[in-house]
Amino acid sequence: MAILPIAKLGEPILRRLADPVGPDELMATGTQALIDDMIETMRSANGLGLAAPQVFVSKQIAVLQLAPSARYPDAPVSGLLTVINPVFSDQSSEMIQGWEGCLSLENLRGLVPRHAALTLDALDRQGQPLHLAVTGFLAVVLQHELDHLWGKLFIDRMADLSTLSHQREYDRHWSPLWQRAGGAPV
Ligand code: NI
Repeated sequence: MAILPIAKLGEPILRRLADPVGPDELMATGTQALIDDMIETMRSANGLGLAAPQVFVSKQIAVLQLAPSARYPDAPVSGLLTVINPVFSDQSSEMIQGWEGCLSLENLRGLVPRHAALTLDALDRQGQPLHLAVTGFLAVVLQHELDHLWGKLFIDRMADLSTLSHQREYDRHWSPLWQRAGGAPV
């Protein structure tokens, strides 16, 4: 396994629609090794998720694993999830807002509205159908990661860019306010 370099804001690959992965391609040694490397890279960078375009591969592959970390101390714990060729089938009209960051937008945080619940169909890393119905924080992280497969970044989803902050200024000015409000979706 290997830790892969991460594409940063400005790399054109972050703005392209990634290609779907074919069944034979998914089972190929190179693709399975890429998924292993993405998982290792995500964990090494303290990320909650990572999408293939972020490691310079324009394919519809994302990995997620929620766990509290230095970057996200309040994150819940989830199992490791690999999502291939996802398609949303339903999204709630109810929105929740949360502070997001991104390994491709180093040192930045912003308040982003996301659907509170969604369902999606995809494949797992063995090519088996995956049907997910998720809510809350996992739904938020999924929307963030799957956006990467469609060339979108969290800054595109912000309703108001005035909250866009560097990490240090987020800690200083926004994080205490957020915690005083209970950290709850608003
Ligand atoms: Ni990201």
